[in-house]
Amino acid sequence: MILKVALGEKSYDIVIEKNSLTKAGNLIKPFLKGDKIVIITDENVDKYYGDLVLNSFLKEGLVVEKLVIKPGESSKSIDQAMEIYKFLLDKGVGRKDLLVALGGGVVGDLVGYCAATYLRGIDFYQIPTSLLAQIDSSVGGKVAIDLPYGKNLVGAFYQPKGVLIDEMTLTTLEEKYFIDGMAEAIKYGAIFSEEFFSYLETEAFTLLDVRFGKSMEKVIYQCCNFKRIVVEEDQFENGRRALLNFGHTIGHGIEKVEGFVGHSHGEAVGIGMCLIAKIGEYLGVTDTGTYERLRKLVEQTGLPVEFPVNIKVEVVDAMGYDKKAQGKGIKLIMLSGIGKSFILEEKKENLMNLVNRGIELL
Ligand SMILES: NC(=O)c1ccc[n+]([C@@H]2O[C@H](COP(=O)([O-])OP(=O)(O)OC[C@H]3O[C@@H](n4cnc5c(N)ncnc54)[C@H](O)[C@@H]3O)[C@@H](O)[C@H]2O)c1
Repeated sequence: MILKVALGEKSYDIVIEKNSLTKAGNLIKPFLKGDKIVIITDENVDKYYGDLVLNSFLKEGLVVEKLVIKPGESSKSIDQAMEIYKFLLDKGVGRKDLLVALGGGVVGDLVGYCAATYLRGIDFYQIPTSLLAQIDSSVGGKVAIDLPYGKNLVGAFYQPKGVLIDEMTLTTLEEKYFIDGMAEAIKYGAIFSEEFFSYLETEAFTLLDVRFGKSMEKVIYQCCNFKRIVVEEDQFENGRRALLNFGHTIGHGIEKVEGFVGHSHGEAVGIGMCLIAKIGEYLGVTDTGTYERLRKLVEQTGLPVEFPVNIKVEVVDAMGYDKKAQGKGIKLIMLSGIGKSFILEEKKENLMNLVNRGIELL
């Protein structure tokens, strides 16, 4: 399956095909304007897929370099970016050469950031290997690294030349990362499509299912398609793209207060989505029963739903400082029902009251 992201001269294809990693070289070769490909991946992904992808380029007679970095969020750093720049300079990588990001969201964001900045920008291609990267982070061109002051604080909107998604890579993912990715799939259903939400309810995907061959193609295709539509409409997040932050304002608050070592991103988003649905029902802007359906699917997926009440005040405070908060109001993404979303601007001073009411009613 191929999805075209139509962004004028920055348009690109998302190729979704099982067992396609072996032909990565063949698919990506046409995007190389220079003479070198540099694959950047992390140790975990390299173990399973590094040689497979490297060999597919060698088979095409291409000059390939590979850099393997440490896995984890701590690699989305200036120090790591510096090491990549140094590697590229040492290998004589020029403006016409191509970087390939092979890995999860960390590798994709980091390599995209380096591609956007090295020599004022060189081409890059995404081969996402985690569920989150396959359905979310590899599409849309947001690239970034973290600073000691917060996540994703330095970055760019920089589109890849293409995205190649092979769902076979999901079989080696740790379960917690699979569940984290599913939180984003639930989010897409909740904000854009009741039909897709029902599909997730019915299919009740588990990593075990996937390891036994159950196809994730429809999930990947649908999510990429939702993201494609939003990105085409609002590439630079001035409007509708903000809907993708459903559950994330509260989620980010939780992650931040816990110093990013408590709830995972997906868990925090799951909690955020449920609480927002409850707050919406309390305000009378969300259909009654929406929370119940959302909570069931979040729980069924293996995500927690309980809000960490002991850090409630700090979370609300952190929401007020979210980098997406503009002016005096906080933009909350609300559901009018499953599959229908809108942006509600709420005064910061009302947030505590809303969160309190939401928690009481959970
Ligand atoms: N750019 C965007 O639009 C966007 C959107 C959402 C999230 N993000 C970013 O994505 C990052 C999180 O991404 P993530 O959840 O993929 O984390 P990740 O890249 O850290 O991957 C999770 C773990 O799984 C491992 N892994 C990845 N693929 C594997 C595979 N196929 N087999 C075995 N192990 C594998 C990784 O080594 C890592 O240990 C965060 O930094 C977040 O800010 C970016």
